[in-house]
Amino acid sequence: MTDLLDNAIEAYRHTFGEEPTVVASAPGRINLIGEHTDYNEGLVLPAAIDRRVYVAAGTRSDQQVLIFSNSYNTIVTTTLDALGSRQREGWASYPKGVLSLVQERGCKLTGLNLLISSSVPEKAGLSSSAALEVATALAVLELFQFPMDPTQLARLCQKAENEFVGVSCGAMDQFAAVFGKKGYALFLDCRSLHSEFVPFPEGVLLLVCDTGVKRELGSTEYGRRQEECRQAVEELARYLPGIRSLRDVDVAAFLQHENLLDPTLRKRARHVVSENTRVRAAVEDLKKNDLDDFSKLIYQSHLSLKRDYEVSSRELDAVVDIAASTDGVIGARMTGAGFGGSAICFVMEENFGELKFNLEEMYPRITGRQPQLYICEIDDGAKVEWRR
Ligand code: GLA
Repeated sequence: MTDLLDNAIEAYRHTFGEEPTVVASAPGRINLIGEHTDYNEGLVLPAAIDRRVYVAAGTRSDQQVLIFSNSYNTIVTTTLDALGSRQREGWASYPKGVLSLVQERGCKLTGLNLLISSSVPEKAGLSSSAALEVATALAVLELFQFPMDPTQLARLCQKAENEFVGVSCGAMDQFAAVFGKKGYALFLDCRSLHSEFVPFPEGVLLLVCDTGVKRELGSTEYGRRQEECRQAVEELARYLPGIRSLRDVDVAAFLQHENLLDPTLRKRARHVVSENTRVRAAVEDLKKNDLDDFSKLIYQSHLSLKRDYEVSSRELDAVVDIAASTDGVIGARMTGAGFGGSAICFVMEENFGELKFNLEEMYPRITGRQPQLYICEIDDGAKVEWRR
């Protein structure tokens, strides 16, 4: 039994005075490449990481729902009837949204207790929210023995975030949390939802550097980018009839029509169109273990996010620059929505020490902040960890 599982069971016992009936867990994620493409029905290549949210659950004999968070050391109390409320309630909105949607799908809930214990850093761009949603959903479905296909489960969790938290995220994070597989990245087509596992290269370590700049995804910029992409599609559709999203625009068509777009929309569209191409190429590179080409794509992706999509930050750029000047680093880029959060570095095992040293030395000098470094392993997606 892992320490985290033990902790979750122990904390449940301590909080609710009895053993939980089930414990489920779901991972945070990094995204190798394919940023801001999911809500454009595009291509992404995320991977689940070995930082997980554990949710322990048990039924109650009344109509109450009690949710305890280890991270916040607070308990939120509600009732089954009140779960449908879309009022924003901080961290509790995630599990409440999931419970409400599970109920809506026909799962008959009784009162219940939930205990949340997490090792996914929050607001670091590692999708602690999707991990919480997915772990909650899986725990509750297992508790009430209500079957649900994994794609539906990921979709339900995305809907919970859209409607109950008010963040209009795409599907990437929830799919990574559900479908992740140890040692593999998940190549996901966000239109067809077709996915394929792609091996993560051997001998390469994944170093996550949390810039220490917290970002709120709900902040206006994420929504603004979505709106700009919609506008770019609207403009381009005048010349490319039948396109539904930027996914439908290939590089040749974009180059032919880019001058017809307003300069900001042109930059946004250029990022999305080129990023989809990079994801396809990166998948081929990983299959062939062509790390030279993979490296170029990773840096190009970051540059495109910085210059065209304008979602990077001084701190994220500093991490990428430091990594790029270190021997044995294959690539580095921001991961997730941007505006802070984390950057990822792919580094040869033997050069890890040098990269760590450089980041710890140089990052504070450039930014005045301390970096948080995590070596992450690519882990499995959500699972039921324990049943009484
Ligand atoms: C956040 C969202 C995802 C995705 C990324 C950017 O992580 O939750 O759906 O849009 O930003 O790629």
